[in-house]
Amino acid sequence: MARQPGSTTEDDITNEVVARFAATPDPRLRQIMLSLIRHLHAFVKEVELTEAEWFSAIEILTRAGHLSDDKRQEFILFSDTLGVSMVVDLINHRKPDGATESTVFGPFHRLNAPEMPYGGNIAHLDKTGTPALIAGRVLDLDGRPIVGALLDVWQAQTSGLYDSQDPNLAAMHMRGKFRSDAEGRYLVRTVRPVHYPIPSDGPVGAMLRATGRHPWRPAHIHFVVSAEGYEPVTTHIFDSADEYLASDAVFAVKQSLICDFERHEAAEGAALRLGIAPPYYTARFDFCLKPASGAATVLDAQQRLAALGAG
Ligand SMILES: [Fe+2]
Repeated sequence: MARQPGSTTEDDITNEVVARFAATPDPRLRQIMLSLIRHLHAFVKEVELTEAEWFSAIEILTRAGHLSDDKRQEFILFSDTLGVSMVVDLINHRKPDGATESTVFGPFHRLNAPEMPYGGNIAHLDKTGTPALIAGRVLDLDGRPIVGALLDVWQAQTSGLYDSQDPNLAAMHMRGKFRSDAEGRYLVRTVRPVHYPIPSDGPVGAMLRATGRHPWRPAHIHFVVSAEGYEPVTTHIFDSADEYLASDAVFAVKQSLICDFERHEAAEGAALRLGIAPPYYTARFDFCLKPASGAATVLDAQQRLAALGAG
């Protein structure tokens, strides 16, 4: 028997809404919408959301939207701090043993970072950090070098801010694109990364304060490594000495991405060739890519931002 108009109750409203979406032609969209509605309704009923709380949520999302543009992405920050970004990462990147693990993309990537030569310095404007050389190779799962792999690198400067957060910084400071050489090697000249707080002047910051959480991320350098025929990996390398490794505000630390920054008091090797005065640090990290799996592969950084309309 057809339901009588106007008879919706808190017990049958969910089925009524689900039924309204049941004819969605795209099966994946149908699956997502039906599940979203069931979970949203269950959440609202479980906490018995008040009207004031509902309106507060609307205001929070509105503020997040107003704050977001091509330099700031408050929604990604919400996703990151709620752990959603890492759930998406974990279920989408069940890599075979040996492939470099991925982690959050974060809100600070920018398109069109400058191309840099082997050993190029992304931190030439950073006058307070300690120099660091990050070296390693890009390899396939059999340990063979991948020639010409693209490494898109970005990092906060020693102030703890990305260029996009600081109007006094030159655009594209602490960013660069590197290519692996004929032996799969790469070399990035930078400064030792520092821990930094995620932006806390918006609704994400308010949430962290209200819930007694700190905003700090352990020191890291971002990489997106890609090569023809391989699945790109979006990841970080983390400094093993950092005090926030166990409490990253965005839950992004994976054990395999932690590496040691070794301090040197005398110039040698690449540091000597590049004229780097001691003290400086070196870190080694090899990236291992797995073969592309066919049609649906990971979006690369540029595609992700373009999809967000932030290109
Ligand atoms: Fe970062």
